[in-house]
This record gives sequence, structure tokens and C-alpha cells, in this order.
Amino acid sequence: MPNILLVGNGAREHAMAEAISRSQHNPRLFSFMKANNPGIASLSEKIKLGGYSDLAAITGFATENKIEFAVIGPEDPLNNGVVDALTACGIPAVGPNKSLARLETSKSFTRNLVNKYHIPGNPQFNVFTSMDGVEAFLNKLEGIVLKPDGLTGGKGVLVQGDHFVTEDEALKLCQQILKESSSLIVEEKFDGEEFSLQCLCDGKTVVATPLVQDHKRRFDGDRGPNTGGMGSYSLPDHSMPFLKPQDVEEGLEITRQVAAALWKETGNPYKGVMYGGFIATKNGAKLLEYNARFGDPEAMNILPLLKTDFVEICRHIIAGTLDQLKIEFEPKATVCKYVVPKGYGLPADHPDAASSRDKIEVGNVGKARLYYSSVDKKEDGLYLSSSRAIGIVGIADNLEEARKIAEAGVKAVKGPVAYREDIGTAALIQKRIDHMKKIRKY
Ligand code: GLY
Repeated sequence: MPNILLVGNGAREHAMAEAISRSQHNPRLFSFMKANNPGIASLSEKIKLGGYSDLAAITGFATENKIEFAVIGPEDPLNNGVVDALTACGIPAVGPNKSLARLETSKSFTRNLVNKYHIPGNPQFNVFTSMDGVEAFLNKLEGIVLKPDGLTGGKGVLVQGDHFVTEDEALKLCQQILKESSSLIVEEKFDGEEFSLQCLCDGKTVVATPLVQDHKRRFDGDRGPNTGGMGSYSLPDHSMPFLKPQDVEEGLEITRQVAAALWKETGNPYKGVMYGGFIATKNGAKLLEYNARFGDPEAMNILPLLKTDFVEICRHIIAGTLDQLKIEFEPKATVCKYVVPKGYGLPADHPDAASSRDKIEVGNVGKARLYYSSVDKKEDGLYLSSSRAIGIVGIADNLEEARKIAEAGVKAVKGPVAYREDIGTAALIQKRIDHMKKIRKY
């Protein structure tokens, strides 16, 4: 019976805890969380609450519980060097060390790495530490994307047409970003449809998991502010209806080359999840960014479909033997809808912005799966925080059935909450297909 440490407290980690618990090796789960997730707690032998920068608390919890290996959910502990600290105690981990985690934590590191090793997929880009040359570079681009160089919880990217219109506005935003961040990345904007390609990597072998599409915007019809992700879907063939097989192959090949480049650059193999955010364009797949972990919500789409034992996968990642394991997923559709506080993601002057930390009731979610995220379990019930609360996942033979299951499940959550009704609908997916047809002109 292996003892396994899970670090993280979101719905993504609840799905990871469930995948670990399903293992035929009967693992005992030890969970280190910054807030008490009731779903993870119910699957754990023991939990410890603490901050993700308290590496001594994490390694102490791991050593006293004779952990075989750790699995790291979110980016914050990776950025704080939790894998380096565990490795120093002789505990291997699924998750990159601090240097390798720059794949996510430094957008400039990744853009420069891709250029240095002549890997395709980068946009035209430039990294600035002052305003020198920013205006001239903005002038060269047809569409502009601005990114602060650091972790932004998926909400820091500013896109022309969505967040600003004119070049003058872009210049002002660049000044603002440079006040708050040590560097700024200015990139060419791509037109296309985004997809999440989450890959498992042991340093040399890269294995793709089913493709997922996330929905960042807060409101139906892809309107409103960007969020950490309001929900996502995947299809039984594990692809996306608006992609060509070549787009997927290109995304996977970029990831293989990046994994090799990371090893050469840092001297260490990347062991963990390489989650590529790609965009299909008229010129094939382009790289938006990498995350050094599973996506949230995307983990909730793929982990419940795993046919292969997750503990086996982790052991092979750590041993560097992923090439010897057949990794299989059920050929099912999934729809994940995040239930969020009504005020989630809204600007302070929005009439609904204030609501949060209210009590919610969770009834019978029927055939849906329920993954807790930022909820606070008190003696008298369950309370919202200011972030995403509960991921509800429908799984079925086709997308419409999966959507109906998720939709019915969402309705079981009562309180001042909101969610996106359009995720997984045929109309929204047709919009994506039509968009790609227009771009590709066929
Ligand atoms: N779904 C976006 C993220 O996990 O960063």
C-alpha cells in the first residue's frame, strides 16, 4: 500500500485524489492543502493545512508519513520549489522542480527557449524590461497581446479587441504592466480557436491526453472578463471538431521538442504535466503558453476517463519509463461546468460583485460528478469563497448527453451562484467550427 502525498486543494486536485484513490494498489492518500477541501479530505487518510510557501511543513508531513512519491496540483508550490525540497528529502515527485517550472512561471523563459532551440509555434514577440523600443515594436504588429512575466492565475493576458483597442491604449497598459512586473512580453495576436493539450512527460517520452476546450470568459457567448476557466468539454474521439489532425500533431511535436529543450537547458528531465495552451490558426497550431500542471477545469475532463491506473502512470513518470506503459482513456464525452459565486470575476463596480462567502446547499447532482474547489466547510454547512466553488462534470457516450448530465447537476447547487449555460451546446461548438472554416477559407 503506497503512501502518496497530494499537494493542492482545488477541484483539479479533487479529481487527482479520486484518480489516485481508484488505483488497484490501494494507496493511502496524504493531502497538504491551504484550505480544507471536503472532497479531498474524504478521500484522504490524513490531511494537513498550511501555506504552499511553507516547504518545511510540506516536507515534514511527507517524511513523517513515509511518502513514496508526491503529486503536485497547482503552480504556486511548484514556483516555490516544493519539488526541490521534497527531492532533497529523498521523496520523488510528479511535477517539475523550480527551474523547470519556469515553463509556466516565466513566459519570457518559454518564448526564448522555443526560439533558441528553433522549435515552431512562437508568435513574433519581444521581451521588455523598460519602455525602450515598445512603441516601435507595437507598430510592427497587426494585432497585439500583452503579458506580464509571471504567474497571473490565467487572468493577466491582455488582448487587442478584447481588453483594449488602440495602440495608445496598449502603450498605457505596457507602462502599467512594467510598474507591477519586472518584464513585459509583447506578442503578435493570432486569430483561431484555442485548445488545451495536456501531456504527461517523464523527461523524454511525451504522452498526449484527450484534447479539451476551456471557456475563460465569465458569461455565455464568450462575453465578460477573463476567469480561471468557467468550464470545458471533451469529445469521445479525444479531438476537437474544429481541428485538423495536423493541428494536434503539431501541438504534440512542439511539446516533444520543448521537453527535450528543457532537459538540455536545465540539465534535468521534466517529470510531470506539460499543459500546452495552443491555438489553431490558418497556418497550423501556434503556442499560446505552457502550464506546468494539469488544467483546472481540464483535469476534471480527462482524469475521470483514465482506464490506466494513475498510480502506475505516476510511477512510470518518476522512473522515466512512460514509453513502457499503454495509457488509455474511455471514449466518452465530458462537459464540466464550474459553479461560481455570483460576483466571481466581476469588476468592483458591477452590481453583483459583492456576493461571496454566502452559504450554499448542494442537493443530489444525479449522474454528474462533483468536484469541490474553493468552498469552506463549516459546522453549519458549506460556504462560498471569492473563487470558483464546485466543478460539475457530465460524462456520457455523446456530448449532448454529457451536457444534460452536467446541467442537471449544476441545478442541484442552491445559493447566490452562477455558471455558464452554453458550455457543451451544439450552437457554441458550431460557432467554433464556423470560425475556423472562415479562417481557413474552405
Ligand atoms: N484552464 C486554465 C488553467 O488551468 O490555467
